[in-house]
Amino acid sequence: MRSMAHTTTGTTIGIIGAGYVGLTTGVCFSELGHRVICVDSDQNKLAMLQRGQAPIYEPDLELLLQKNLKSGALQFTNDIHAAVQGCETIFICVNTPPKPNGQADLRFVEQVAKEIAMALPDTYRVIVDKSTVPVHTAEKVAETIRRYNPTAKSFDVVSNPEFLREGSAIHDTMFPDRIVIGASSDRARAVMKKIYEPILKQSKAELCEVSIRSAELIKHGANSLLATKISFANLIAEACESAGANAAEVLHGIGLDKRIGRQFLQPGIGFGGSCFPKDIAAFRFTLETLGVSADFITAVERINLNAYQRFLKRIERELWVLDGKRICVFGVAFKANTDDIRNAPALRLMHAFIKAGAVVSAYDPKANQKAKHLVSEATYFDDPYAAAQKAEAIVVCTEWDEFTRLDWKRLRQTVVTPIVFDGRNIIDRAQAEKAGFIWHGIGS
Ligand code: NAD
Ligand code: UGA
Repeated sequence: MRSMAHTTTGTTIGIIGAGYVGLTTGVCFSELGHRVICVDSDQNKLAMLQRGQAPIYEPDLELLLQKNLKSGALQFTNDIHAAVQGCETIFICVNTPPKPNGQADLRFVEQVAKEIAMALPDTYRVIVDKSTVPVHTAEKVAETIRRYNPTAKSFDVVSNPEFLREGSAIHDTMFPDRIVIGASSDRARAVMKKIYEPILKQSKAELCEVSIRSAELIKHGANSLLATKISFANLIAEACESAGANAAEVLHGIGLDKRIGRQFLQPGIGFGGSCFPKDIAAFRFTLETLGVSADFITAVERINLNAYQRFLKRIERELWVLDGKRICVFGVAFKANTDDIRNAPALRLMHAFIKAGAVVSAYDPKANQKAKHLVSEATYFDDPYAAAQKAEAIVVCTEWDEFTRLDWKRLRQTVVTPIVFDGRNIIDRAQAEKAGFIWHGIGS
């Protein structure tokens, strides 16, 4: 990790919701010299955090958590009242899950707004919405605070969306591309700039000062465009499979245009995780509410589902009867460098294999424990070679770096039939084929 600036002119920050975003933000702000109180309503999570244990796997997170807990710069509590009283800025970082129709469920945001309202002192407070929310939410948060505390006058609500990726959350927070601040008063903007000063100093981040509504739309727009790039790559992959071309070559050629770029054009078994699927569904709902056609977003969602279905069909076609077959899954996390399995395409595949009667073994470097609770019918291993024993097919679902370095000769000795389905196009195809494996990838 690169060295980080440390300020002595830190401010006091309350973070409500110590999940992926809240915990990472709190840890980074404390590392940068602010005094941070993180609030969470989950007692188990709090107990772990107070012991210096990170409830999630994220590179460098636990190290910085322990360091700043020890120095006293970072504290954890369930007392939101004390945090609001004691901190001049309060970040709302609670979850915003999807409703069945795609709309963002804002009950946790509203609950926190109510609790903040009851705890507001007379002195000025900045309430920052960092959770991903639809446009107009900050106005609703301000309205809620005024409704539950009609005498509250000295506060501003700011939108400050978060763009970190899981697996590189600390780095993304310390060295972001931009910091978006949507505020309606100079006073709130000044408080926010002071908080972000160390990050602006140490990174090349551009400060993007906009209206509150624009800030909210930037977040949904950015996630929708990133998801669009992935769906576009999957569309090209499907075209290449039908045309007898090679998606890796085609996408490389497309991405070399600097206006397009190479990033987020990796085809696979579809994007998963706790954000893209829910955020583009929420954006679809928002567009429809605004009277704007959401056909574009619907197409992105459809292509994403199709990427998964195409891969499953290919496995079914190649393996013929799944009933009784032993299938080994490499990677259950929704992406590499995380133990997050929310909306992981791997889990959906494992359910499909099990439903068809297959015997499923799985290996993930970090996510086995979490997956055990959701797909308990599978057997989990701490080592890929043990997981592949007697397998009749290996299915790669997550782009973990270690899968690029697998010993295919060793795997050949342990499997029954050497077939590999590479759902992320990351394995060393030449080595696998040299060892006798039949390789099936995406887009060729
Ligand atoms: P999370 O589920 O990991 O964490 C949310 C935390 O909020 C939980 O620990 C929960 O116990 C706590 N919480 C809920 N209600 C509470 C309350 N009333 N009082 C105190 N604590 C409460 O969620 P997350 O992944 O950190 O996401 C949070 C928000 O940030 C979401 O809107 C998400 O879309 C957005 N976001 C997430 C990421 C990511 O990579 N995970 C990146 C950018 C933005
Ligand atoms: C994504 C965005 O990248 C972050 O900027 C954003 O802050 C975050 O959502 C959020 O709002 O929560 P994240 O979901 O953590 O971050 O991870 P990504 O790296 O974006 O990957 C998402 C999914 O897309 C994964 O399943 C990954 O395997 C897949 N993906 C990614 C592809 O299939 N192809 C690609 O080229 C890139």
